[in-house]
Amino acid sequence: MSKKIQIAVVGSGYVGLVAAVCFAEMGHDVICVDNDERKVLALQGGDTLIHEDHLPELLNRYRNQRVRFMTDLAEATRECEAIFIAVGTPQSETGDADLSYVEAVASEIARSINGYKVIVEKSTVPVYTNEWIRRVIERNGVEREMFDVVSNPEFLREGTAVSDFLHPDRIVVGADSERAAAVLNAIYAPLTSGEYYDTENIIPGMLSSENPPPILLTSTKSAEIIKHASNAFLAMKISFINAVSNLCEAADANVEQVARGMGLDSRIGPKFLRPGIGYGGSCFPKDVAAFRSVAEQMGVDFSLLSEVEKINTEQKKRFLSKVRSALWTLRGKKLAVLGLAFKGETDDIRESPAIDLVEMLLGEGCSVTAYDPAAMERAKAELPESKQMIYATDSYAAARDADALLILTDWREFAGLDLHKLNATMRYPIVIDGRNLYDPHAMVEHGFTYMSVGRPAAHPVREAVAV
Ligand code: UGA
Repeated sequence: MSKKIQIAVVGSGYVGLVAAVCFAEMGHDVICVDNDERKVLALQGGDTLIHEDHLPELLNRYRNQRVRFMTDLAEATRECEAIFIAVGTPQSETGDADLSYVEAVASEIARSINGYKVIVEKSTVPVYTNEWIRRVIERNGVEREMFDVVSNPEFLREGTAVSDFLHPDRIVVGADSERAAAVLNAIYAPLTSGEYYDTENIIPGMLSSENPPPILLTSTKSAEIIKHASNAFLAMKISFINAVSNLCEAADANVEQVARGMGLDSRIGPKFLRPGIGYGGSCFPKDVAAFRSVAEQMGVDFSLLSEVEKINTEQKKRFLSKVRSALWTLRGKKLAVLGLAFKGETDDIRESPAIDLVEMLLGEGCSVTAYDPAAMERAKAELPESKQMIYATDSYAAARDADALLILTDWREFAGLDLHKLNATMRYPIVIDGRNLYDPHAMVEHGFTYMSVGRPAAHPVREAVAV
């Protein structure tokens, strides 16, 4: 049997909240701390605050028992052996990560330390943050042997966060002391020993007791770089395939075939080679900028990352040109938009390329009727309802009398539309798909003019008119 550890998680955002309920699912006692009282009350009452698979189930199972929510970080620090910092590290104006929340939490922890504590950095932070946290705690008068600071980056994706957490590809622990590494080993033992995967009612995923996740022990600095380098690499893969898709368009080739041909090489792999309208979300744009900025500050030329960002920005503009080329003029056009979230299966609209594109289209004088299965409430804050910006109740309502339909987010439900019904609903059957959800032949068979990313445009063949 793995040992039960008292864990505090500071921050109840995507990473903090998911980590808190998952640690409880692994058998630990958890206190999740947030300084926003309204959030704490909502979580205590069973509101998950974010749209995430399995989260309601786990929150119901453990809330107010194995996971307690509170605003009092001092009490949580005194009660717990390991304190995970999972607060936001937003992007500052220079592209750096703004670490002021991390610093504030570290100072507050320092003031309440009453025995040996492991302070774990889980937010995505630049290299050297661990050292800063250590210095801040020492400056607050805490003896060096009373604490260790560890880096344990999180690799979960929004939308599949709970199963990513419990079925990780790897667990990275950057620790410069054996004592701290032992605490982290104990926390993750239910996963690394395989024990969790043999218990009843587990959250399903790829791993099993025969195939548990590896734990990689590194230095704190290496762990910090692993996180930034991994996100930057994935963003680079996306920008790479987007650049290839542009070449495919110019050469009349098909990027889906090219990506498949590349992905079958096991050194390249098929994942994150889906072309589209550019990456978004709360991580990739911020982390690429922060990693570039860290490199710059350390005198390392990593201009490759600037190219990754440039391609990403251009990709949105290219999509806008595609809409223009399909419709000729944009002013006064009535467009249906499917998807506002930055990717499918999430309600998150942070840095969403879909929102950027809708803003550009509104700026060009189009009117937009949008539908998203989960992100519309959040989107209304960025794109307020108006005569020009309408929110629909489903995909077909969005498409009614539209001059064209744009697919901007890869929600699963957008890939399974009733094409016959869709065609009958629209004014002109033109679909411009920014996520390549459809087979061009099938679209043409259903009478659509279909444009997508990195594939030749497809038009229905008009039957010859007998003279
Ligand atoms: C990303 C990473 O995938 C996680 O491993 C990491 O933990 C997380 O950031 C983080 O640092 O917190 P996430 O932002 O949830 O996770 O979303 P992804 O699924 O990675 O997608 C990011 C963006 O890239 C989306 O806009 C998505 O549409 C786009 N994308 C992804 C593509 O355009 N093509 C692809 O092939 C894959």
